[in-house]
Amino acid sequence: MNPNPNQHSTVFQTIADALAGPGWLVIPDFLSRQQVDELRQLAQTRQAEFSRAGVGRAGGFGIRDDIRGDSVLWVDEHDPAMQAANARMAELQQSLNRELYLGLAELEWHFASYPAGAFYQRHLDQHREQDTRVVTVVQYLNAADWQAEDGGQLRIYLDEEQSVDVTPHGGTLVVFLSNRFEHEVLPARRERFSLTGWYRRRS
Ligand code: OGA
Ligand code: MN
Repeated sequence: MNPNPNQHSTVFQTIADALAGPGWLVIPDFLSRQQVDELRQLAQTRQAEFSRAGVGRAGGFGIRDDIRGDSVLWVDEHDPAMQAANARMAELQQSLNRELYLGLAELEWHFASYPAGAFYQRHLDQHREQDTRVVTVVQYLNAADWQAEDGGQLRIYLDEEQSVDVTPHGGTLVVFLSNRFEHEVLPARRERFSLTGWYRRRS
């Protein structure tokens, strides 16, 4: 027998175990090369629909190049082009609820594009006490020739002393608890694509 390491149940179990343990995980090749290329091409086709990501909320909302330089396009849960990707994320949600009783009620996610030189300063995804983001999920959509030298690493701060840098190779998945880990996106020397999402519980 030659079990497929990317078989859903296996990889979902691995993710649940990691969230229950260290609280974060990186999985290379979570997406196949074909899935990566199709999703990146979809994002590129829809480039005109992206808008600059802001920081802050309500009165304090603004575009701040010195804090984050990406543009985003939110995923529509009924978008036929996203059916397979949405279905897989729904399966992961069910699996995490079953294994960890996280009470995840919904996924909100967006494509993100960082132009060369853009970055996202160190931050926490759960900003306020009442924030309902529980799990952060990032999938990289960069072309196969992305090199570590191209930059764009996600730096995850594990504690006061340690951090880990994740190179955004196409197909790599990063999962972490939204309220636990500060992180930042380092500047890249070419455009950097990802799909970034948050599983939320009900408020
Ligand atoms: C974010 C974020 C990380 C990444 O969008 O909040 O931290 O690697 N993204 O794109
Ligand atoms: Mn973040």
